[in-house]
Formats: sequence, C-alpha cells, structure tokens
Amino acid sequence: MSKQFRIAPSILSANFAKLGQEITDVIASGADIVHFDVMDNHFVPNLTIGPLVCEAIRPLTTAIIDVHLMVEPVDRIIPDFAKAGANIITFHPEASHHIDRSLSMVRDLGCKSGLVFNPATPLDYMDHVMDKIDMILLMSVNPGFGGQKFIPEALNKLKLARAKIDAYTAKTGREIWLEIDGGVNTANIADIARAGADTFVAGSALFGAPKDSDPNRYDSIVATLRAELAKV
Ligand code: DX5
Ligand code: ZN
Repeated sequence: MSKQFRIAPSILSANFAKLGQEITDVIASGADIVHFDVMDNHFVPNLTIGPLVCEAIRPLTTAIIDVHLMVEPVDRIIPDFAKAGANIITFHPEASHHIDRSLSMVRDLGCKSGLVFNPATPLDYMDHVMDKIDMILLMSVNPGFGGQKFIPEALNKLKLARAKIDAYTAKTGREIWLEIDGGVNTANIADIARAGADTFVAGSALFGAPKDSDPNRYDSIVATLRAELAKV
C-alpha cells in the first residue's frame, strides 16, 4: 500500500540528561517527528517540559516538532510554543473554553493545529471545526504518563475518526493527519494502522529498551516498526 506512515518518538521516555543527543539519534534512525508532551500537573497529573526546552532542541533537528499540550488553559501558552519553533500544536478540547478560537490562534501563528481526544472524549468536537484542523490525535491511554497499556477501544474510535476525515478529504481535497498516542509497540502498530492511523507516537517502545550510547541504538526498533507498517 502506498499510504504514508509517520513515526513520532515521544521524548517523554527519553533520557532527559542527554535530550539533545537522544533526539539527534532517534531522528537519524529514521523516525519522522519529535512528539513533545507538555504536562502541567493540573490538566494531567504530571509535570514535564515547556517552551524553553522546545526552543533549546529546535536547532538540533529539521524534523517536525509536534507539541501535545496537556495543559489548561491553552491560549496563554500557544504563542510561546509557536515562537519556540513548534510546527504542530495540538490541545484537548476540554482544556479550551473557545476551541475554534484556540485553533485559529495556532494557525495564525504559522503552525499546524490539532485536537486531541482522551479515550472517553467523543469525536463530535471536531465536527464544526474541520477546516481549522490539520491533525487529529487520539489518545489510546489516559494522558499523563508513558509506558501504559494500549486501550483496545481506541481501534474502534480510530475507524470512526478515519471515516470522518476521509469524508472531509473527499469533499475538500484537504488532508488531515490521524495520530495515535499511547501504548504503541511493534506488536500492535500494524493493527493500529489497519484501523486508520497514519502517524504513530511511540515513547517507551522506542526509548525504553536501549541503554548504551551507540548512536545507532534506535535503528533496529524503528526498522521493526516500519517493517510492521509495511505489512498493512
Ligand atoms: C501520554 C503522552 C504520550 C506518552 C506515550 O500522556 O501523551 O505521548 O509519552 O508513551 P508510550 O508510547 O510509552 O505509551
Ligand atoms: Zn503525547
């Protein structure tokens, strides 16, 4: 199949003491996108990294930086990430009182925009803002931590999201990416692709294993993910 698949390492599971090297190495291994998880200990029960870290890693790679905001509110921080070099900024609809306005803000600042759906959040939030969305991100775990187990119901939800996106693309000719986030690994990535995802966040599956400092340490895992995707 000629469909284009993208692998997006979640740096949440990287070694933060060597973050720059981790990013350089995982992209050199053939990954496509840097998935950047922003948590505020309010919208989700964990605290991670902000615009200063985004700005610091920006010069290290030409890869897309995909900022996943798990913060509330979102409007205050969106301009900071745009300025820090983010390419895509996604947020959870529950975290914005004015979803249409927040999506527009991301676009006006020159970034691609997207909505993120928690496992129990209905897809309806996308229906009246499709023209302002470049990426839909479906959570297949409850956000907050890496290393959780994939929630199988996400496969049904992916099929529904795929159908909505395909109908929209058929009507407008405009592409919207469908990303999945949480518990993706070499054993389930093919089934997830069959359900309709085209962009795959992988945190612990990628960064969890190799402990040495060989710059090629991520080659085989990225290659295995791609080999699984090639079966689809
Ligand atoms: C979870 C984050 C994910 C997480 C994925 O709240 O949004 O991006 O890092 O990690 P894994 O792939 O280990 O489930
Ligand atoms: Zn994420």
